[in-house]
Amino acid sequence: MLSAKKVLQFQKIIYAHYKKHGRKLPWRPPALKLRKDKILNPYKILVSEVMLQQTQVSRVIKKYPLFIKEFKTGRALARAPLSKVLSVWSGLGYNRRAKFLHHAAKKIIEKHAGVLPRDAETLMTLPGVGPGTAGAVMAFAFNTPSIFIETNIRSVFIHYFFPKRKKVSDKEILQLIKKTIDNRNVRDWYYALMDYGVMLKEKHKNPSRKSAHYVEQSPFKNSNRQVRGEILKLLTQHKSIPKQKIKKYIKGNQKYINSALEQLLKEKFIRIKNNVVTLA
Ligand code: ADE
Repeated sequence: MLSAKKVLQFQKIIYAHYKKHGRKLPWRPPALKLRKDKILNPYKILVSEVMLQQTQVSRVIKKYPLFIKEFKTGRALARAPLSKVLSVWSGLGYNRRAKFLHHAAKKIIEKHAGVLPRDAETLMTLPGVGPGTAGAVMAFAFNTPSIFIETNIRSVFIHYFFPKRKKVSDKEILQLIKKTIDNRNVRDWYYALMDYGVMLKEKHKNPSRKSAHYVEQSPFKNSNRQVRGEILKLLTQHKSIPKQKIKKYIKGNQKYINSALEQLLKEKFIRIKNNVVTLA
């Protein structure tokens, strides 16, 4: 059992670190302005959270302001052609996310009158929004209690509550997140947890390796992802390319070109007609 006293003790440690070492980031206040109702621009928060899925903060910091400058509102994003969205996204990797975000922006206009839904369940009906992203948007945009986990948060709980255990499941961690959340300051609480997790990662080697969900990236996944990214980049620059010519431009492992093209076709990123490849 976790006593109220233990919870307070834990919160005190996390907040003390945050007060001293909290990160200033372009998707947090004061860079993003708090509205009178204490909400942060939900569109901008959604963009940041989708970018931060699987991508390091240092890379997102560079791209986020450019993306927001180009697409100032969800409406602007929804109106833009996919090729433009992909070209602004380029460099972040995992391009599927850009396509999902673009699709989500359209869906918000069409199905939700241009207003980002304010509950996790409806948020999860948007393309590319899973429980983690929905929970993060609830916390960061709306300051509303939500229970979610991501890599830095996971590290904190493993470090603090399971220092000796070999494997810890997310289910166990989520229960603890629920018991220790600061319901009155959800946004700051999660910022603080994430920043504490970053500090742990700098001090210790990969604290998440003890997670039951930790998997090392396979060489196949890395090469495949690189080739997919290169093909999409090529298409945002050239509009259309004969399939045979693609090989000439790809720096990554040629072995993966055909499977990457098949995947991209299946996911409706591209079209292939008469052996000429274009963006869908
Ligand atoms: N601040 C808000 N969301 C974040 C995230 N997902 N990662 C790091 N810092 C954040």
